[in-house]
Amino acid sequence: MKNELKNLRAEILEAIEGVSDLSGLEDLRVKYLGRKGTLPNLLKGLKGLADDARKEAGAFANEVKLSVDEAFSALQIDLEAKSRAEAFAEAHIDITRPGITPDIGHLHLTTQAIEEIKTIFSRLGFVQVRHPEIDWDHYAFGALNFPEDHPARDDWETFFIDDAGKAAEGENGKIVLTPHTSNGQVREMERSELPIRMMNINKTYRRQVSARHLPMFHQFEGLLIDKDVSIADLLGTFDFFVKQFFGPERKTRLRPHHFRFTEPSFELDVSCDVCAGTGMRENGLKCKLCKVGWLELGGAGMVHPNVLRAGGIDPDVYSGFAFGWGVERTMMMKGGINIPDIRVMYQNDMRFLEQF
Ligand code: PHE
Repeated sequence: MKNELKNLRAEILEAIEGVSDLSGLEDLRVKYLGRKGTLPNLLKGLKGLADDARKEAGAFANEVKLSVDEAFSALQIDLEAKSRAEAFAEAHIDITRPGITPDIGHLHLTTQAIEEIKTIFSRLGFVQVRHPEIDWDHYAFGALNFPEDHPARDDWETFFIDDAGKAAEGENGKIVLTPHTSNGQVREMERSELPIRMMNINKTYRRQVSARHLPMFHQFEGLLIDKDVSIADLLGTFDFFVKQFFGPERKTRLRPHHFRFTEPSFELDVSCDVCAGTGMRENGLKCKLCKVGWLELGGAGMVHPNVLRAGGIDPDVYSGFAFGWGVERTMMMKGGINIPDIRVMYQNDMRFLEQF
């Protein structure tokens, strides 16, 4: 028995030498030490021995088992270390490879324009506020000198808020999605102390969709009320804004117009930058963008006495001017931005948005 054990030990140790990976080692372990392995099989023979011989053989068998186990574990530790080193070498990090840069977003071009507009007017002391974008007919029309059912209301193509299919109504009339930021005028007069320098920038809504019109767009509304305010102040403010926003070479002009809430009323124009205000291109053809050398920015005027009264202000003591211009339109008039279809601004197409 002892000899057999000696031989087996030698065989196992030799076999182990030839192993080069963990699975090979495991195979050997099963073959020699597993439940039906060579060593347990051999040890079954112990039973048949006489007491003394069994003791001796048993003790020796333990020795053999210990030394074989040790050889197995030592090799296992080696092989495991080797396989870790190999896996690491394969997956090693090449610090010279360019990394993956995360996308960095930026403000939407409308928000950028709003920030710029706000900053320019703040230099003249206009304070930004936000009056409601869902408001009573009273603030959107009534207090602005629109008689009930006056056809001029149609110019504003207003959305009304429904209550079970019927226009919702309350003490201040119907509820509208504000079609212009002028609803902020009388609200500001009610809220603020005089003098007033308000810049109300907000979303506005009209029933219109086309390549040049959106049902939702933005306006910025200036309102200045003080003693002895004149048209010259309005023009000076307009000119300041245009030169800051569009550039010092741009010219301004006003054309007579009509609004219910200003008197006199104007449309304000900015010289076209494509044809430098001439209306003609170098090739002798009319400028495609403006045709006449001027681009229309939007409406303005001196605040109507009835509007001042609606806001609790005495028109014999105070006067003021107001203007309301579209953010998107103003932005597109700035050189370099040529958007053939304005709807693309709010379709969240990254290929478009990333450009600004
Ligand atoms: N609210 C007018 C519009 O939407 C613009 C305007 C504002 C005109 C203030 C005069 C004074 O067209």
